[in-house]
Parts: sequence; C-alpha cells; structure tokens
Amino acid sequence: MYQVYVRSFADSDGDGVGDLAGLASRLDYVSSLGVDGLWLTPFYRSPMVDGGYDVADPREVDPSLGDLATFDRLVEATRAAGLRLTVDVVPNHTSVAHRWFQAAQRAGRGSAERRRYLFRDGAPGRAGSSTRPGARTEPPNNWLSVFGGSAWTQVADGQWYLHLFAPEQPDLDWTHPEVWADLQETLRCWLARGVDGFRIDVAHGMAKAPGLPDMVQPHRFELDGTAGEEDPRFDQPAVHDIHRRIRGVLDEHAAMAVGEVWVRSTDRLLAYVRPDELNLVFTFGLLAAPWDTLELRAAIEQGLRLPTPAWCLANHDRPRTATRYGGGAAGRARARAAALLMLALPGACYLYAGEELGLPDVELPDDALTDPTWERSGHTDRGRDGCRVPLPWSGSRPPFGFGPGRGQPWLPQPPDWGSYTVARQDQDPDSTLSLYRRAIRIRASFAGEPFAWRPAPDGILAFDRGRIGVVVNCCPSSFNLEENCTVLVASGPMQRERGELVLPADSAVWLDRSGG
Ligand code: NOJ
Repeated sequence: MYQVYVRSFADSDGDGVGDLAGLASRLDYVSSLGVDGLWLTPFYRSPMVDGGYDVADPREVDPSLGDLATFDRLVEATRAAGLRLTVDVVPNHTSVAHRWFQAAQRAGRGSAERRRYLFRDGAPGRAGSSTRPGARTEPPNNWLSVFGGSAWTQVADGQWYLHLFAPEQPDLDWTHPEVWADLQETLRCWLARGVDGFRIDVAHGMAKAPGLPDMVQPHRFELDGTAGEEDPRFDQPAVHDIHRRIRGVLDEHAAMAVGEVWVRSTDRLLAYVRPDELNLVFTFGLLAAPWDTLELRAAIEQGLRLPTPAWCLANHDRPRTATRYGGGAAGRARARAAALLMLALPGACYLYAGEELGLPDVELPDDALTDPTWERSGHTDRGRDGCRVPLPWSGSRPPFGFGPGRGQPWLPQPPDWGSYTVARQDQDPDSTLSLYRRAIRIRASFAGEPFAWRPAPDGILAFDRGRIGVVVNCCPSSFNLEENCTVLVASGPMQRERGELVLPADSAVWLDRSGG
C-alpha cells in the first residue's frame, strides 16, 4: 500500500498545495511502483490546524484539495489503474470548526449539544474560592495532550473540553449515540462513492476510562505505548465494541480497515484484530526501531505474531527513514537496506510517498513550521513538518515539478533536491526508486512462502522466504556471505571475492537459493 499525504504529493492548480486532481494526474507513477493500493490522509473540509486531522466536515472535500466531483474522478481513475483506494477517517475528534462543536460552544453548560464532546467543570483552583463550578481555574484532570500541554481548554463560560491532540481537535464522547450514527454515515458515504477501505486514526483512542481519572504518571505519549502504565486516555476495553460496529458496516461492502493503534504490548494489539474487529493494525515496530539487529529482530518477531502484519518504516508522523537511521551516506544506505528487509516480510507493507525516493527529513526554518507540536511544546519539539515536504518530481529547482507554480510549495523544498526527483531516478537503474520497483515486483513471486530465521552472527539478520534468502548487514563493515547463489536484488554494490559474495556495510540482499 502506498500512503499519500495529499497536500504534499502533487499540486494541479499552482497554489503550492497538493490536491486530489494532482494525485489523479500522477496515478501512472503510483502504478509503476507495483503497489496494490493507496491510503489517502484526510482531504476533508478542515481549517488544517493538524494537516486535515482536524475535520470540520467528514463528508466534504476541503476546497483547497478539490471537490466531490474530483474525488469521484479519482475513484474512477484508481479503478482504471487497478489500484485499491483507502481513505483516512478520524473518529476520535473533530475540528472546532465542526458544526457540532460550534453548536456546543453556543449552547452552553449542561446543554445536549455539549454532550457530544467531553465538556467538564474545572477542578477547584488552588485558592478554591470560586462559587461558580464552571469557573474553577484548574483543568478537570491531569491529562496531557499528545502534542504537549494540558489536554483541556477552557471556554468562555468557564467549562473545559478535552482534546488529546490540539485544542482545535476536541475529543468526541463515544458514549453518545449520535457519534456512532455520524461515523456510520461517513463510512457509508465514502463506501457509496467507491472506496475499498479505511485507515482509522487513533483507533485506540475513542473510549476514555469512565470518570476520566487522573493519569498516574502524566506523559504526552510514548512510542512503545504508555511506559507500562495503564493510560486512562487510550486502549480502554469499550473501544473494541466500536471496532465491532465499524466492522459490521465494512463487511456489508467487503471493505477493510487498518487501524492506527498504539498500545503497550503485542497482546493488547492482538485484541484489535479479532475476527470481528479491524482487518489490520499497523505493526509499528519497524517504524520505532533503530538500525540495530536486536531491535529489528524483536520488532519482526512481535509483528509476526499478528494474523497479517502491516509493516511500515515511515509515515507522515515520523522523521524520514534516511534521517532516522543517521542521515548522510550511512542513513541513505540503511534506508535502502531497510526497504529490502521490510519488503521481504510476510504480510502487508505500507510505503510513505517519498520513501521510494530515499528522501531525507528536511530541516525547515522556524518560520516555516506549521505542526501544532512546535508551539504546544514551547518550541522544544519541531514537529512533523520535516517529513511532509512536497515531493520533487522533475527539474533542478523548487518546486521540482510539484505543481505548475514557480514559487516554493506550502513547505519549502531544499534547493538541492534535484538529485532526488522522480525524473532523475527513473533513468538510473541504481536509484532508490529503481530498487523499490524491482523489490516490489520480486516480492509478488514469494508471497505466501514461509518465513524462517537463519542463524547469523552479531550485526547480521538472515531469514528465508521459501527459496528466497534475505541477508541484512547492519554493521559498518562488509560481510562475507560464504555462499555463491544468485543475487536477485541488493541495496548496495555486491562484490565477489574468491567465488563468495560480499555484502557491503549497511546493506541487504535477496538471494535465490533454489540452486543449492
Ligand atoms: C494520528 C495521525 O497520524 C496524526 O498525523 C494526527 O496528528 C493525529 N493522529 C491526530 O489526529
């Protein structure tokens, strides 16, 4: 599956923002990768405080990205290209611009409108002097927002509302029946328009611990879950009932859902892919693991416990792989090797657009940053803009064919991105783009073959998929394979020494072992 961050993929109208028509015009490229389908990040009506994950109307297209007619044309075009189309849905929260939240603000304390969200009176302030409960000066509990700061914001009449993300993303109260009814309508609306499935945002988040108790150790968010503590914000038992209801709708249409689920352990994760819940959950182990054989192996072993793992090395929330693995030549080499590692695994693989070009994260100037995390963290966390810089397609200066405009796109591209363009890499058999295409093509030939680890020395990962052998060298020195089989694809220049194959530092290879 190929993840498209719509605003950063291709711009059809020259306003510097990628859009649905831009994507439709580039479907040939997506097909040329050999992927089976697309996941589009939110393109719904939104003030774009959190890149569209602050949804004002989940059944409308944001005017900056197109309209419903453009979406319908995109559906047709993806069909014609033989690609499946999946789209994001954001059930945990809305935008403050959503009509429900606008009404809730207007309607005031105790109103039916407020019950669709999590409005609460504040806790008594330290002075404890106020007589009006809503005017109490402390947030109702100690929960922190994933983006930094308190998870509560006070409105004019003194009440507070919960937002696990930005203040512009109020959390919905999933015990309210209209909340489910509305999500159902949203799912049915996009299914009727022809989508094949959904990526469910914060799929572990919709149900909160009853009574909204304090967190034992307040923290924003831990990559590996919640640092071992029960977290009253996430992964509550009631969330599973929501997934069962979603699955009921999807099954009527033979559609699928993949969930973004961050939980403490693989055991917790497994609960989300019971036969009547989500079809897939992202297997985030590889996204979180550094370039280290023990950690990569542990991530793979955990992922393989899922009925169908959904691997990803990158997405729109994490630094791009080449940078995450150290940057420079080593980071680039490791990112290429990691691609061969992931693409050799059983299950589904999600690629994040630009990953196949080996793009690094971009160090943007302070005034270019748009991610709410930057402000909310008091300028200590630069946020996720660096991995969302628009794709370079062709040419030698910004916007590198991203759109017809002449200026920089919504996030500025580095002037030296000419070597990363699709046009340049298309011509080069050794480019990262060519590597991805080759690997994806070969991958189809061993789908369904069993996975088996091979013994390997420190710093090396080795496993087989049937007749295909996979060796990954995570060391800074080359590794002698001590066998002489056919190389199907390698991420770095293989050499032969006295009849044996030598795998360079930070590289991976797929071998055909059928000869012996
Ligand atoms: C997860 C999404 O991937 C991220 O981009 C977003 O900020 C949060 N959910 C909140 O919707």
